[in-house]
Amino acid sequence: KLPSTIAALLLKWYDRHARVLPWRSPPGAPRGDPYRIWLSEVMLQQTQVATVKPYFETFTRRWPDFAALAAAEDADVMAAWAGLGYYARARNMLACARAVANDHGGRLPDSEAALRALPGVGDYTAAAVAAIAFGRRAVVVDANVERVVARLAALETPLPRAKPEIRALTDTITPDDRAGDFAQAMMDLGATICTARSPRCLLCPLSGACAAERSGEPESWPRRERK
Ligand code: ADE
Repeated sequence: KLPSTIAALLLKWYDRHARVLPWRSPPGAPRGDPYRIWLSEVMLQQTQVATVKPYFETFTRRWPDFAALAAAEDADVMAAWAGLGYYARARNMLACARAVANDHGGRLPDSEAALRALPGVGDYTAAAVAAIAFGRRAVVVDANVERVVARLAALETPLPRAKPEIRALTDTITPDDRAGDFAQAMMDLGATICTARSPRCLLCPLSGACAAERSGEPESWPRRERK
């Protein structure tokens, strides 16, 4: 069981230290544009933030909304995607924009279930968009969140077997309010403080609530299945 103080500690940290990202509205500001949030999450699925930034700027300048992207030529979109890799993602992204334009009146649906029915939108993206773009309470788990939670709980179950347990633990610490900020705070913490190689526990807002930190060897989590 994880300490009940985690969400409040993390959100307080996020209020001061949230990364400034082109698709993100700062903590306390109104929610951002669902199109931009969806596009960023699709681009971030297998690609790092630093790589995504210039592509995100190019795409949003050229195709500022679902209608524009839906009307684009396939070849133009594929050419603009070149370098991001995983081209099936680009095809699905375009199919999704067209489904939103044609079947949803140009607006992304706001529930996780309806989002998951769209091309290229899996569990992670549906949860992230529902929480960040629409303020829904959703349990958002990516690789960074897996590592942070495995450490907080000093989980002995190795990855990938621990995934269901990690999801259940993440559910218990996700707040009803500000679930989108909470998810982004977990991802920022994993990207900047609780990194894979060298967790910076001295800077971590959750160090007092972390079982891996107490062990003295936080980098030895998450446990891995030995091959
Ligand atoms: N990685 C994927 N989505 C992200 C987000 N919204 N904030 C920070 N890192 C992310």
